[in-house]
Amino acid sequence: MKKQKLNNDTLMPIIGLGTFRSKDEDAYNAVLTALKTGYRHIDTAAVYGNEESVGKAIKDSGVKRKDIFVTTKLWNTEQGYQSAIKACNDSLKKLGLEYVDLYLIHWFKGYENSIDTWKALETLYEMGKVKAIGVSNYNVHHLQHLLDNAKVKPMVNQVETHIRLQNEFLKDFCKNNGIQLEAYAPLMSHHIDELLENETMQEIAKKYKKSVAQIAIKWLTERDIVVIPKSVHSKRIKENFDIFDFSLDDEDMNKIKELNKGEKYFPEFDNVMF
Ligand SMILES: NC(=O)c1ccc[n+]([C@@H]2O[C@H](COP(=O)([O-])OP(=O)(O)OC[C@H]3O[C@@H](n4cnc5c(N)ncnc54)[C@H](OP(=O)(O)O)[C@@H]3O)[C@@H](O)[C@H]2O)c1
Repeated sequence: MKKQKLNNDTLMPIIGLGTFRSKDEDAYNAVLTALKTGYRHIDTAAVYGNEESVGKAIKDSGVKRKDIFVTTKLWNTEQGYQSAIKACNDSLKKLGLEYVDLYLIHWFKGYENSIDTWKALETLYEMGKVKAIGVSNYNVHHLQHLLDNAKVKPMVNQVETHIRLQNEFLKDFCKNNGIQLEAYAPLMSHHIDELLENETMQEIAKKYKKSVAQIAIKWLTERDIVVIPKSVHSKRIKENFDIFDFSLDDEDMNKIKELNKGEKYFPEFDNVMF
């Protein structure tokens, strides 16, 4: 499977399983199915309330720990130096893991706060409890402030990215600064029906004998963006992973590029009220 090299040489599988809104048994079964299918990357977060189920599935899968890339995220209420260290330890305990491969600040919560929090992530990184550190829901101005103040550069920025919100400028900024862009909501999340009904996407899917979801995922990986589609259904988990036997030609990549509307379905980063 294709892997992206992070700025500390860690390898991050280009596709992983998302687990937002996957609860208890559903989360456990989804992670188990994904690992059996060949996924080697799982995305969770403290706020999803499923770290225990995710960790149990990882353990029960029989796949070696070193072969799985696990991401979790620091929730907003736990920002600040001491609370972030404690939150990471709590997440590790729930996951039943000695380390995670990537630890992210979930949302930007103010300039001063974010640097104190980042220092905690740097400490956790130095301790080896997290193998890579990064942020989520950061725009260019948030990233620039972090880069100006960080000892360890962020390795990843996980943001909403899909055919209606293509983030070309943010992607270039990240690339120029050694930050890997990771797409959440790659299937447009709660707007998935609009994606599946899009006529351009349907035409392209027909041409490659693939589903619209597969085309949407492939279009991101072709742009070297890490992608974490979520499903709790075995058939879809398998379908979303079955994207390595074809390539999209330039004409189709450009057709999809034209679908961009700059349309966001999650809160705007500077106005997070939670
Ligand atoms: N950092 C952040 O702030 C943040 C925010 C949101 C999400 N995330 C991460 O990104 C992951 C992905 O985002 P997301 O879960 O919001 O949305 P998504 O992956 O874009 O879409 C998930 C939706 O698509 C459906 N689906 C999945 N595969 C399908 C297929 N092949 N055909 C038809 N429907 C399909 C799922 O339903 P079923 O489950 O019923 O199959 C679910 O309703 C999350 O799970 C989470 O790990 C991070």
